[in-house]
Amino acid sequence: MSERTFSIIKPDAVAAKQTGAIIQMILDAGLTVKGMKMIQLTRAQAEGFYAVHSARPFFKDLVEYMISGPVVVSCLEGENAIARYRDLMGATDPAKAAEGTIRKNFGKSIEANACHGSDAPETAKVEVSYFFSNLELVG
Ligand code: CMP
Repeated sequence: MSERTFSIIKPDAVAAKQTGAIIQMILDAGLTVKGMKMIQLTRAQAEGFYAVHSARPFFKDLVEYMISGPVVVSCLEGENAIARYRDLMGATDPAKAAEGTIRKNFGKSIEANACHGSDAPETAKVEVSYFFSNLELVG
């Protein structure tokens, strides 16, 4: 079943000029880009986006990191896009990520881990609509 997922290329990867390489990996994996833009998250946007983690000890640092520079957000589409993009990203901790994954190639730490992807259909819907209106998505 074709579905949509949401991706963030995080500040560490954008700053390290790895945006293009990550987008190429996404395209090579057969996922289609329905919408994409570079933005600078506000503190309120980052806190809202990661609200589910607000009680975690890493929340404050995570928000600081996510507003430290521009990010590239996108809506991706394909058969089983959510699971396929999570496979392509690899484990949250780059040290544990498999060979050939985005986080293995470009992640610097468990926090500065190059990318984010939705973990389930419900969160994908919420996350896509957090950053994109329907007018900004093609097809
Ligand atoms: P992400 O997939 O964006 O979801 C939450 C983020 O919190 C995660 O990637 C990491 O960037 C960050 N993070 C920082 N420390 C941890 C941790 N100990 N466990 C999980 N996520 C962490």
